[in-house]
Amino acid sequence: MATNITWHEGLTHDERSKFTKQKGLTIWFTGLSASGKSTIATALEQHLLHQGVNAYRLDGDNIRFGLNKNLGFSEADRNENIRRIGEVAKLFADSTTVAITSFISPYKQDRLQARKLHEDGNLPFVEVYVNVPVEVAEQRDPKGLYKKARAGEIKEFTGISAPYEAPESPEIEVTHQQTVEESVAAIYRYLTENKLL
Ligand code: PPS
Repeated sequence: MATNITWHEGLTHDERSKFTKQKGLTIWFTGLSASGKSTIATALEQHLLHQGVNAYRLDGDNIRFGLNKNLGFSEADRNENIRRIGEVAKLFADSTTVAITSFISPYKQDRLQARKLHEDGNLPFVEVYVNVPVEVAEQRDPKGLYKKARAGEIKEFTGISAPYEAPESPEIEVTHQQTVEESVAAIYRYLTENKLL
C-alpha cells in the first residue's frame, strides 16, 4: 500500500440510506462455469429492478473485458480478480445499491476475504452457492470450454484441471433441479425475510 495517504470521511452509509431509501448489500454467487450463475444473477437483477430496488450485476466474463483485463486464470490472478471484485461490490453496497456478483470465485479464502471486507463495513454479504455438479455443467458446456479443457487446449480450467472449493455454509444454495424462477424466488424470499432490502 502507498504511504502518505489519508482516509477522508464523507456521508455515512446510514445518512445515504435515508436519501435513497435502500440499504445496500452484496449478493455473491459462486459456482462452476456453466452452473447458471450469470443466468440466475441476471434474472434476480431484473426481478429486483421490477420491484423498484436498484441492483447492479458484476459478471466474471464481462469484468475481464475491462477492469480485470490484465488477469488470467492462475491461482494468483483469480485471487486478485476476486479481491478487486470484493472491493468494487463493497463500494456498490455502500452506495446502497444491491451488488450482484457472479464469478466462479473458486477459493474459500478469497470469498471469506470479500465477506470480511463487507462485515467490517457493516454491509450485508449473502453468499449464493449454485450447486451444479461438474458432470452436469460439462454436459451443458454452452461455450465449448469443457471440451477444450478436456482436450488440453485450456489449462487450469475449474473443475477439470483447477480446483473448486465449495462453500460449507452459504446463506443460500440453489441447484440444477430448480428452475431459474424458483432460484430467484428463493433468493428474494431470503432477502425479504431477513429485511435486507
Ligand atoms: S474466477 O475463477 O472467479 O476468477 O473466474 P471468473 O472471473 O468468474 O471467470 C470465469 C469465466 O471465464 C471463462 N474461462 C474460464 N473459467 C474457468 N477456468 C478457466 N481456465 C477459464 N478460462 C476462461 C469462462 O467463460 C467463465 O465464465 P462462466 O460464466 O463462469 O462460465
